[in-house]
Amino acid sequence: MITRRRFLRTAGGASLATLPAARLAMAAPLLAHQTDEWYAVQQAFAVDRSLTHLNNGGVCPAPKSVMDALSAHQAASNRRPFYAHQGEVAAQIESVRSGLANLLGCESEELALTRNTSEGMEICQLGIPMEAGDEIVTTDHDYPRMMQTWTQRSARDGIVIRSVPVGVPLMDPEDLVRSIEQAITPRTRLVMCCHMVDLTGQVLPIREIVRIAHTHGVPVLVDGAQTFGHLPFSVGDLKCDFYATSLHKWIMGPEGTGLLYVKREHIPKVWPLMPARAGMESDIRKFEDAGTRASAPFLALAEALRFHEGIGSQEKFDRLCYLRDYWLDGLSGEARVLLLTETGSAGALATVEVAEMDPLALRNHLWDRYRIRVRPIRQVNVSGIRVSPGIYTTLPELDRFVTVMKSILADGLPTPD
Ligand SMILES: Cc1ncc(COP(=O)(O)O)c(C=O)c1O
Repeated sequence: MITRRRFLRTAGGASLATLPAARLAMAAPLLAHQTDEWYAVQQAFAVDRSLTHLNNGGVCPAPKSVMDALSAHQAASNRRPFYAHQGEVAAQIESVRSGLANLLGCESEELALTRNTSEGMEICQLGIPMEAGDEIVTTDHDYPRMMQTWTQRSARDGIVIRSVPVGVPLMDPEDLVRSIEQAITPRTRLVMCCHMVDLTGQVLPIREIVRIAHTHGVPVLVDGAQTFGHLPFSVGDLKCDFYATSLHKWIMGPEGTGLLYVKREHIPKVWPLMPARAGMESDIRKFEDAGTRASAPFLALAEALRFHEGIGSQEKFDRLCYLRDYWLDGLSGEARVLLLTETGSAGALATVEVAEMDPLALRNHLWDRYRIRVRPIRQVNVSGIRVSPGIYTTLPELDRFVTVMKSILADGLPTPD
């Protein structure tokens, strides 16, 4: 039984049983070609098909071509002395930089190669000069690590954090833009927010947030962990000042790869995490000057880019939305399943609350009993499981997930020993 208080708390969510027919219709017709056309893509991955990985928002597997390139580059690096090898690969790294910049829609000289989103974000969070009493504006749906970084900076440097709430599901993006504007004061030095919130997969109205922040002279740092290689967009469209992402997520590069975009005019103003050589103040590579680093994962990104471009940004996004709607449609008759994501502005990720079921217990049961991996969420105003298929996910895998969920809804979770 859903209590009144609980019902009110989740009243913004849409029970799948009441999802607008138009939205479900997107998923309804299962056309034969949609299965067949993606067979080659599914086969391009050497994934363990004895488990169903529906947490691609965590890490996506890289295709075989990327893993082959990674081993080849590692072997080449190991065959020769490190320094000789580094000299040789510098040009190749620059070609990877330019390929990534082309896809992101910026100049090569604005793109640094990092280990992940966290590193890119922290370069900005810790490197943008601020004084005690200066403020930053963020949301309550920002990633915990980034919030920890602000908490430390607040303790160390006395900066003030202003956080605005994000609705679940986000039915009124303009309201969020207004809240962000209201939180800006003459002491605001930066607005930081996610492009796509990891809790729900909700895409935030970055362009409008940037426009409003810029009218107050405030730059915007975007946490793009979930969007590069996922949504078709360019940083030129967003007009943000900083954008950080991981390349082991949706672009499907090797683990431990990421990028940071810094608008050219800001490069000299941001301190790198590790101090770089004199003369590099305006060089984007100052953010990469971090001692000996493995080049193989970055070189293998050339193959990840080729794979992505072979599919096409729009086609990949459409397929990911199709897969999301496919499983949502499968659960559409279940009144106890409440959709927490406004799918009109989302991608592969969607979060559902399952009435009276603890997300962690549900995740554990799905994994222990069925080897299906989803992400449990119990954070801020979100309680549910986040499901994120990848482009290699097959429709039979999603059918099985739906069948298993229906059996759990009918029989309940096993009682703990
Ligand atoms: C919104 C968001 N930001 C940051 C991160 C951190 O990414 P990484 O661990 O690759 O740095 C994640 C990871 O899932 C994320 O979803």
